[in-house]
Amino acid sequence: MKNIIIHIILFATFLCVTCETDCNSLLMGQYICPNPEYDLIDPKTQQLKGCTKEKKSKVPCLAAEGITCLESHNSTFYKDFDCKWTNGYHFDTALLLSIFFGMFGLDRFYLGYPAIGLAKFFTLGFMFLGQLIDIILIATQVVGPADGSSYVMPFFGPAVEVIRSTNSTFRLNPEECVDYPKPLEGKLSLNNKLEYSEKWLKGSLYGPESFASWNGTLYASIHGGYVVNITGNKVVPIVKLGKPCEEDFEEKICGRPLGMQFDKNGSLIVADPYYGIFKVNIQSGKKINLVSTDIEINGYKPKIPNSVAVASNGDIFWTDSSTDFLLQDGIYAVLSDGSGR
Ligand SMILES: *[C@@H]1O[C@H](CO)[C@@H](O)[C@H](O)[C@H]1NC(C)=O
Ligand SMILES: *[C@@H]1O[C@H](CO)[C@@H](O)[C@H](O)[C@H]1NC(C)=O
Ligand SMILES: *[C@@H]1O[C@H](CO)[C@@H](O)[C@H](O)[C@H]1NC(C)=O
Ligand SMILES: *[C@@H]1O[C@H](CO)[C@@H](O)[C@H](O)[C@H]1NC(C)=O
Ligand SMILES: *[C@@H]1O[C@H](CO)[C@@H](O)[C@H](O)[C@H]1NC(C)=O
Repeated sequence: MKNIIIHIILFATFLCVTCETDCNSLLMGQYICPNPEYDLIDPKTQQLKGCTKEKKSKVPCLAAEGITCLESHNSTFYKDFDCKWTNGYHFDTALLLSIFFGMFGLDRFYLGYPAIGLAKFFTLGFMFLGQLIDIILIATQVVGPADGSSYVMPFFGPAVEVIRSTNSTFRLNPEECVDYPKPLEGKLSLNNKLEYSEKWLKGSLYGPESFASWNGTLYASIHGGYVVNITGNKVVPIVKLGKPCEEDFEEKICGRPLGMQFDKNGSLIVADPYYGIFKVNIQSGKKINLVSTDIEINGYKPKIPNSVAVASNGDIFWTDSSTDFLLQDGIYAVLSDGSGR
């Protein structure tokens, strides 16, 4: 695709050697603006040279080599730039007149408001109150020259740009651009069912990860590679997914059942990050390894089978949290690019 575009550009450039182009429609990168030889700024007004009353200035630009422009028959052309039209009214002059001679209305005469100037002259600037107001209005550039021009600001001083909300500005309705979360109603409504919960089986379950229930009995996957059933206060191992191991921290040998869920027939589907996906008969404790971590899937061995979900037709969905790192090296998985699926 890139090649095609480059070819089209080359071809278009080739065409332009023999024809003349409307240089105002050139794309970025095909011209330089302003022409580096041109001195853009008028030192008197400190605005673009030749700024018109329409606040536009024609700036000479240079088309790339080989492009000939329609208007000039060579590579120079003019582009309209936005600028501030000035008509000789200096900001510092207006402000100083306002501060020192505002009571005689000289600032208003200077800026071209003779009526207000006269009124100020005869009332001593509305007894100095109007003078104070005018100082503020001029200092904040709310009042400018009467002819609509901009102040000449020394050294590109901080000219104020007033932005107004008009037809051409668009006001975003905050309601429209925010997706509010769904209201917490029905099943999602707040309740206090956990308020009276108490700790259960404290000290007798080590590292419980996942729970599932069947026919009124609760099952949990725990550290050491076991899935247990829980009756009253009794915890009974029903299956061990990994191999016999001496210490629980030898996870890679012991196995470490994580997510589990019953299918419709009461078989327990369990994910073990080191050994894969198992189907367990909870009565006999028999296990079948449905998916082994030794087998590559799409080029990668699963490294952290983590969660399972059983569909109503018996299909099993499971997540593989990493194809780069084992669970025991999970910290690296957190620090590196994601490789889960
Ligand atoms: C390009 O053409 C314009 C007028 O057609 C002329 O004023 C200008 O000097 C020319 N520039 C060059 C670089 O030849
Ligand atoms: C804004 O829109 C109204 C009606 O659509 C139009 O009459 C008016 O001229 C517009 N104003 C500007 C500044 O475009
Ligand atoms: C459910 O549990 C009861 C006893 O609590 C037992 O009699 C029954 O056979 C169990 N059903 C299944 C399907 O395991
Ligand atoms: C829990 O598992 C043990 C061992 O498999 C079994 O004897 C016991 O009946 C189970 N308890 C329940 C309530 O299923
Ligand atoms: C449940 O058992 C029936 C009959 O043995 C079998 O046809 C079906 O495939 C089983 N369903 C699942 C989800 O294992």
